[in-house]
Amino acid sequence: MCGIVGYVGDKEVAPILLDGLQRLEYRGYDSAGVAVVNGKGIEVVKAVGKLKELDGLITSNPPSGKMGIGHTRWATHGVPSDLNSHPHADRSGDFALVHNGIIENFQRLKDELGQKGHRFISETDTEIIAHLLAENYRGDVQQAVLSLIERLEGSYALAILSRHEPDKIFVVRKDSPLVIGKGQGENFIASDIPAFLKQTREFLILNDGECAQVTQDGVQIFNRQGEEIKREPLQVDWDAEQAEKGGYQHYMLKEIHEQPDALRRVMSNRIAPGKIELSELSLTPEQLRSYRRIQIVACGTAYYSGMLGKYVLEQLVRIPVEVDVASEFRYRQPLLNRQSLVIVVSQSGETADTLAALRLARKQGARVLALTNAIGSSIDREADQVLYLQAGPEIAVASTKAYITMVAAFYLLALYLAKVRGTVEEEQLTTLIAEVLRLPELAAETLISSEEMIKGRAQVYKLQENAFFIGRNTDFPLALEGALKLKEISYIHAEAYPAGELKHGPLALLEDGVPVLAIAARHSLYDKMLSNIKEVKARGADVTAITFAGQREIEESVDHVLYIPSVNELFSGVLAIIPLQLLAYYTALERGYDVDQPRNLAKSVTVE
Ligand code: AGP
Repeated sequence: MCGIVGYVGDKEVAPILLDGLQRLEYRGYDSAGVAVVNGKGIEVVKAVGKLKELDGLITSNPPSGKMGIGHTRWATHGVPSDLNSHPHADRSGDFALVHNGIIENFQRLKDELGQKGHRFISETDTEIIAHLLAENYRGDVQQAVLSLIERLEGSYALAILSRHEPDKIFVVRKDSPLVIGKGQGENFIASDIPAFLKQTREFLILNDGECAQVTQDGVQIFNRQGEEIKREPLQVDWDAEQAEKGGYQHYMLKEIHEQPDALRRVMSNRIAPGKIELSELSLTPEQLRSYRRIQIVACGTAYYSGMLGKYVLEQLVRIPVEVDVASEFRYRQPLLNRQSLVIVVSQSGETADTLAALRLARKQGARVLALTNAIGSSIDREADQVLYLQAGPEIAVASTKAYITMVAAFYLLALYLAKVRGTVEEEQLTTLIAEVLRLPELAAETLISSEEMIKGRAQVYKLQENAFFIGRNTDFPLALEGALKLKEISYIHAEAYPAGELKHGPLALLEDGVPVLAIAARHSLYDKMLSNIKEVKARGADVTAITFAGQREIEESVDHVLYIPSVNELFSGVLAIIPLQLLAYYTALERGYDVDQPRNLAKSVTVE
């Protein structure tokens, strides 16, 4: 799980590569490197640590040249070190390459190459690819690249330079993303579109098993048989501003504040007063009525959005819904058939476990609907149906605006299925639609009303080593998501429980001053929550409650209250999550951590 970039054109390449890598740092940030083609051959500069280390090296001694490749790494094989950093080259220096993915048969290939006299200097799976290219080269680099497709098992997006054909970047991919940006007299390659949005809006998406030759003047794409393929570029309408921090201290804070707009986008053209249409779904009403169950599969935050989606779908559509973590789902031999609708949820569209779950579901005859933010991603391309989240580029590792659009997409889907399957009366449907349409405004209000109070709470949370999050019904997955956010960026141990479950064990952990965040955003379960809150308060917990405006009596039972605007309780999730995201953000900030790039994590998890 790494970021790769490449450039060929008429400008000095090093600053362009560094700029592109900076935008991909969310994919990995334990080391980085570049390779530049020039009169000396292929010059490689790399450094362990964040990109600024490489930047320092390049600034003091810039490699000159107009074509090159770069890499930002998230270690899989071998510790982060200068030697293990990419690019990797073969012994002769004829080939240098950068790689995103994992080569599963690398040990076998390494042994085989070792017997032929190849010697390796790193612990990586990537280095063997450079040696394999040198071994397979018979006077045609393209043929040597194609031969990789036959030999390599696992996932890879590769950008390759060769001294034999020094005017071309060769790229090839399988199960790891790769896009080619088209410019005027210059072309770009990258793991993800935002890397070069500043330079171009035209992108060619490379499919699995395809390779391409990228030169200053053009791009040629080939299938695995070496036959040329014609492909129309995708026009991307994000502006470069959308991919920048826009004046905020961190991407995460910017993305939290973008949530009202993200909600507007996910709803636009899909929902209007008295109307709900998901016209991009090509499923007929008969097909939509034929499903007997829904299976949701995702990882992390996307999984928690699915847990929340289950409550909403079951309540409105009266259909059984199961939710699984993708890494478990793929190995539990799930029972699926043509009457199962499988929904996979993924911001990046590249999460390896979710992609494998999608493939497994399709193999078993189920139709797969993807909720994804990434146009052109593997999940987008392989699903039968796609609902785009329209959150815009999400850069911070901790997902916020993508999460809120996932939850909103479940609201839309539930309302649409309820309409088609006739499980909600028309009048009630109109009322529910009206409530959903209020959400962007209410999210904006929640942001304004909660930020200052949460900053104050962060002063207390920053001193804690443990925290508890509790809730019932749709508030329980919110508690899980709130706890994940806090763990992920502030490194505080946080646990989430259904509020009624505490007395079955976890209550033993509560004592004076332990912080408990209680979400009471369900009118129908308000009294039950109040009882649970009293239980923790009686053990000395420091309780902060999140509840609807007007519930003033809660103030007697808790230490702090944060009010969110009142809305139909089925849809309160997109509001109540906002203070939890802010709490994680400000606590991490107070503790002095790297909010956007937390330790040990990466934005896009393209390895199993
Ligand atoms: C969220 O804050 C996390 N960084 C992580 O749990 C993430 O949601 C998960 O890895 C799934 O990613 P995806 O949505 O891109 O599939």
